Amino acid sequence: MAIDEINAQGGINGRPIDPIVYDPGSEAASFGDYAKRLMIEDGVTTIFGCYTSSSRKAVLPVVERLNGLLWYPTVYEGFEFSPNVIYTGASPNQNCISLCSYLMNHYGSRFYCIGSNYVYPKVSNRIVRDFVVANGGTIVGEMYVDINARHDDYAPIMRDVRAASPDVVFSTVVGSSTADLYQSYTDFGFDPKVMPIASLTTTEAEVLNMGVDVGEGHISAASYFEGLANDCSTTFSSRYRSLFGVDEPTNCCVETAYFQVKMFAEALETTNTLRTDVIRANILGAEYDAPQGQVVIDLASGHANLWTRIGKANSRGHFDVLFASNAPVVADPYLLSYGSHEEACGSY
Ligand code: ACM
Repeated sequence: MAIDEINAQGGINGRPIDPIVYDPGSEAASFGDYAKRLMIEDGVTTIFGCYTSSSRKAVLPVVERLNGLLWYPTVYEGFEFSPNVIYTGASPNQNCISLCSYLMNHYGSRFYCIGSNYVYPKVSNRIVRDFVVANGGTIVGEMYVDINARHDDYAPIMRDVRAASPDVVFSTVVGSSTADLYQSYTDFGFDPKVMPIASLTTTEAEVLNMGVDVGEGHISAASYFEGLANDCSTTFSSRYRSLFGVDEPTNCCVETAYFQVKMFAEALETTNTLRTDVIRANILGAEYDAPQGQVVIDLASGHANLWTRIGKANSRGHFDVLFASNAPVVADPYLLSYGSHEEACGSY
C-alpha cells in the first residue's frame, strides 16, 4: 500500500519503487537465506520486514556483513543496537513498562506470564519480572508454549493459572496460537473483567482471529490502535480496508510497516542514493506524521520514538484507549532511564 501510494505520485525522483518480495514462511533461518539472496543476487541494499525477533536475529548478521539496512517494524524486547537496522516497533519502555504499571495500578500485582517459546517472550518476561518484583509484586507463574501451540496445549497451563490465582495474565504469545490461548481462557471460565489477559502482541488482527466476543475486555499496549481520531489514521485505515477488505482492521504492525516505507521514500528522495550509510545518516533524526501521531527516528539509537497507548478490546474487536502518552516516548531499548513504578508510571 505504501509503495503503491509512492508510485501513484510519480515514484521517487521520477523512478518507481519495484519491490522484490520473498516469503520465508515464518521460518527464522529462511529469513537469513533470503536476506543473503536479496543482497548478493538481487543487488538489494534496503530490506523491509521480519515479524519475530528470531527472524530479525537471522537477518542481522547478513545486513551487518554486507552493509545493508533492515527496517524492522515489530515491537521487540530491546537490548539490541545495530547500525544496520532502523527499529520502528516499540521498545519495552514504550509499551511493556507502561502496561505493567497500568496493571499493577488497576488489577493487582500478582502476574502470571505465558509466552511463545523463543527470545522475544523470554526477554520480555525477564523485564516484566524485574519491574513487577522491584515494585513489590510477584510472578506467580511463567510458562512457555510452542509457537504453533493449539487449543489443547493450553489446558494444563489454564489449570495452573486457576491454582495460582493471579490478578492478571501477561501474554507474549505470538501468531495464530494467540487465538487458541484466549479461546482456552474463555473455555476455562475466566472473566476478563476480573482477570484480563494483558498483551504486547495481541492486536486487532489476533482479536479478529479469535472472535471479537472472545477478545472483548482483554487489554493490550500498542503505539497505534485502529480508529484513532486523527485524519492521517482515518485515511490510513480506509485505504487499507479498500485494498485488503472491509472487515480487515489495521493494527500496530501494519502501521509501522507502512510509515517506515514512507519515511524511507522521503530519505531516498533527498539523498538520491541507496547507499546504506547515506540513507541512515539522513533518517536519523527524521520526523514523520504517521497514523499514530508524529514519530521521530532517535538520533542516538536508530529506534523510533513512538506513542504509548493502552487499550481494552471492545465488542467490535477494536481497542478503547485507556491511557495515551501526550507525546512520542523516546525509545530506551536498554532500559537505562526508567525508574520505579511511581516515578515511571504514577499517572497510569
Ligand atoms: C517479536 O518477536 N518481536 C514479537
